[in-house]
Amino acid sequence: MGTHDALPDPRNADVLVWINGELVPRERAVVSVFDSGFLVGDGIWEGIRLHDGGFAFLDRHLDRLFGGLAATRIELGMSRADVVAALREVVDANEMDDAVHVRLMVTRGDKTTPSQHPSNLVGGPNVVITAEHKVADPGARERGISLFTATVRRPPPDTLDQRLNSHSKLHEVMALLQATSAGADEALMLDPTGAVATCNATNFFCVRDGALWTSTGQYNLPGITRAVVLEVARDAGMEVHEAPFTLTDVYAAQEVFVTGTFGGLTPVATVDGRAIGPGAARPVTTDLRARYDAAVAASAAADARRRAQAVAPRSSGGGCLEERATS
Ligand SMILES: Cc1ncc(COP(=O)(O)O)c(C=O)c1O
Repeated sequence: MGTHDALPDPRNADVLVWINGELVPRERAVVSVFDSGFLVGDGIWEGIRLHDGGFAFLDRHLDRLFGGLAATRIELGMSRADVVAALREVVDANEMDDAVHVRLMVTRGDKTTPSQHPSNLVGGPNVVITAEHKVADPGARERGISLFTATVRRPPPDTLDQRLNSHSKLHEVMALLQATSAGADEALMLDPTGAVATCNATNFFCVRDGALWTSTGQYNLPGITRAVVLEVARDAGMEVHEAPFTLTDVYAAQEVFVTGTFGGLTPVATVDGRAIGPGAARPVTTDLRARYDAAVAASAAADARRRAQAVAPRSSGGGCLEERATS
């Protein structure tokens, strides 16, 4: 039972996948075995939520995507507006409106031969967008998940900058394998100093004496859910710390939760076999989740309005795709 478990949905058997501008049925949705992402994990991706007709936090996702592409010098060859149009095309082609999870993947492209060197590229990048009907299994939210602290550390920015949402998640997978072997759902990971960094596929928060704590940001993906949770907590007047803390603080926390685009806020029931907090009430997690869900709804509604303006025949000057959609 993890944060990424979804309720089964038979509609996903027939979805169309966007591959380099073509919509192809799922069973024929393939890239070359010479693709850079397949060969060496050389690519950048985003997980985005379609909620009630609009994408949530779309500009933030595009900022992170284009930042990662610039850092890795992957030439996308598409503008932000092109990317948005492609995202809309795939959800429209699949007649999707709500509770949809989209994954946008960009690799450096096909190589002439298995190698790291970009001089072996034979064309532009491979761009793939999958869209699936996906609702998080409520069991994780109700019961809370279990975490196990892996020995695999999150590296500093001079080793592999954790700000990059790269295709290679091997060190996260190694951490997750340790956690599942230990009987836990997901892995908690420390930074090189021994402070708590993040989880293998989500960001980590704990509540201590009414204050919200998360890691410094140097050793974790700058999660969009993480950023929004920090904003809504500050707006609610909560004391918030983005600072080092250790497992000793975690074990004594009143509440622990993890964050990600797919599952939102998911409570953590145990860390390393120790029960967290006094029980299942988790009032801070519940309150922050409600505030986060409201921010998702507001952002998605703003995107749905922009989209409606963009397609309305008599709209003038509407549909500004670059407008920032925050909460
Ligand atoms: C390692 C890692 N941390 C955190 C997250 C959560 O990020 P977000 O809130 O943007 O979905 C992800 C999701 O891709 C991830 O892969």
